[in-house]
Amino acid sequence: MELLRERLGLTGTHIGCDTSQCGACMIHLNGASVKSCTVLAVSADGADLVTIEGLAGPEGLHPMQRAFHEHHGLQCGFCTPGMIMSAVDLARRHPAPTEGQVRAWLVGNICRCTGYQNIVASVIAGAAAMHPAPAGE
Ligand code: FES
Ligand code: FES
Repeated sequence: MELLRERLGLTGTHIGCDTSQCGACMIHLNGASVKSCTVLAVSADGADLVTIEGLAGPEGLHPMQRAFHEHHGLQCGFCTPGMIMSAVDLARRHPAPTEGQVRAWLVGNICRCTGYQNIVASVIAGAAAMHPAPAGE
């Protein structure tokens, strides 16, 4: 995380606890969400890393980012990058997660503003947007 923020200027990855508890520092390492505060840069050498800055595409925000915006899934926004990185990983594994699955998955992501209700709604909507039903269904 220090490398990401201090050397590469990717400050969207936040430092909360720095002890692997809050999830503010979540990134994708080879496609899976991990808490970057406990990943040594040298151990990620050659790995595929994606931070919150890399989620949006040429067409705009990632569907999960848009869902957080549209469903008011943030208050101060400090936990939001980590929540979104975690949520994208969940939605890739479970295209239509239940509320219980979302809450269980996000147990490692702490929101000090405690706006969990809207976060859960955002994740469910974001997962649906990532996996739209085929036309005609
Ligand atoms: Fe990494 Fe809190 S800063 S889990
Ligand atoms: Fe403030 Fe989660 S929105 S910490």
